Amino acid sequence: MSRRRGRFLVLEGLDGAGTTTQSRLLAERLRREGRRVHLTAEPSGGPVGALIRQVLRGRVAGGGGEGFDPSALALLFAADRLDHHAAEIAPRLAEGADVISDRYTLSSLAYQSLTTGDPAWVERLNARAPAPDLTLFLRVRPAVAGRRRFAESGSRELYEVPAFQRRVARAYQRSLALLRRRGERVALVDGEGPVEAVAEAVHAAAIGA
Ligand code: TMP
Repeated sequence: MSRRRGRFLVLEGLDGAGTTTQSRLLAERLRREGRRVHLTAEPSGGPVGALIRQVLRGRVAGGGGEGFDPSALALLFAADRLDHHAAEIAPRLAEGADVISDRYTLSSLAYQSLTTGDPAWVERLNARAPAPDLTLFLRVRPAVAGRRRFAESGSRELYEVPAFQRRVARAYQRSLALLRRRGERVALVDGEGPVEAVAEAVHAAAIGA
């Protein structure tokens, strides 16, 4: 028996843009509408993802992760993605479930292009990661995202520095243009309004996928 393949949806944005909250709300709403949904995130819950989380929290080499080689970290993100897709995403899609991932390739194209200084290399590293059906980008200005991060937690992860987040915002714009040139589907959603309004816009974009 062949079931219809599910849809692979990705949420992206700066740290503090609300990708985690909005991924959860979208999953809940699609489930209420009767769809089967698998909610996941990158760094993934797999072995490489666990290692990346340790680096981001500064538990591996150097305070705050600064001692960890940025190119090595770019490789880990790309390795995590291929494992995540093969072990978790593809099987769920094949079963007919929709898969929502809080971050995917676009995060590497934005963050690791900056940290390695070599966007073409980062693009190549991620070339084997299958494209999602839709990438939803939550547009939130860096200052607004920064205030949200501050309100949420006192501790900072590796990339949660205001000046760096401003550069990430510009890198996201360049990377979104790259996805479009490749023919991938991208939706821009205003992420600065109340949570419910953003959720409504995310859902509208997602069901159009
Ligand atoms: P999170 O805060 O959404 O859990 O993501 C962890 C951090 O990792 C966040 O600062 C974004 C960053 N990141 C990358 O730099 N490259 C990637 O490929 C991914 C998936 C996340």
